Amino acid sequence: MSLLELSKVNASIAGFDITHDIDLHVEAGEAVALVGRNGAGKTTTFRSIMGLNTIDSGSIRFKDEELTELRPELIPRRGIGYQPENRDLFTGMTVDENFRLPIWTSGEARGIDDEDAVVEDIFELFEELRDRRHANVENLSGGQGKMTAIGRAMALQPDLLLLDEPLEGLAPVVVENLKRYIHEIIERDIAVLIAESNASHVPEIVDRMYVIERGEIVADGDPEDLVEDQEIQMLMQGSGE
Ligand SMILES: Nc1ncnc2c1ncn2[C@@H]1O[C@H](COP(=O)(O)OP(=O)(O)O)[C@@H](O)[C@H]1O
Ligand SMILES: [Mg+2]
Repeated sequence: MSLLELSKVNASIAGFDITHDIDLHVEAGEAVALVGRNGAGKTTTFRSIMGLNTIDSGSIRFKDEELTELRPELIPRRGIGYQPENRDLFTGMTVDENFRLPIWTSGEARGIDDEDAVVEDIFELFEELRDRRHANVENLSGGQGKMTAIGRAMALQPDLLLLDEPLEGLAPVVVENLKRYIHEIIERDIAVLIAESNASHVPEIVDRMYVIERGEIVADGDPEDLVEDQEIQMLMQGSGE
């Protein structure tokens, strides 16, 4: 049994079919990427997992429970953390409060009894956030904002983290820092599924990758092989619709 298993997932937005028969799985502790150019359907797939998108057919199982039958607010409590693409931080609050809010609302249901220990653990990982702890999230740099969004996704001690373009729009030096943090997360035995529109960083981060194009999984396998595959390169560089 996989930790996460999508079978033939068809999702739509406002009546338009967006994903077509998505099959995808992530094993416990595994690092996997979902790679595709802009508009391919990565965010829709993540939102479908989190119960935030209409699913017309197919199944999404996590720890052998059907997620499509759950209310969306229950999904993080089952052990999935989500860093949205547009970071979506709780505005008007500090970094520290952004980490605590999920615990205030769902910590008990998730069996978290030491809020401070969980928050310290997140700051332990993201050392660059330590002196920004009491900063309002509106005053963060792009990299600090991504880190805060990832840290918040870790607040309920997930078994699986969904990271939606965690490296996008960041300066090269910040990208290197984030890659190091993602490695450390993987070393903590948290499974990660990373959406990326730029395949170049992917082989350094994950063990396995899927390629998504026009809402369909068109390839999966070893990242090193796929990134060098001519057809995949052409597809990633294509101009789109
Ligand atoms: N709110 C929306 N209304 C209509 N179509 C949308 C909406 N959001 C996304 N789409 C369409 O869904 C497709 C997949 O988008 P998305 O999942 O965001 O792709 P990706 O994350 O891979 O860039 C795109 O063709 C996009 O135009
Ligand atoms: Mg996206």
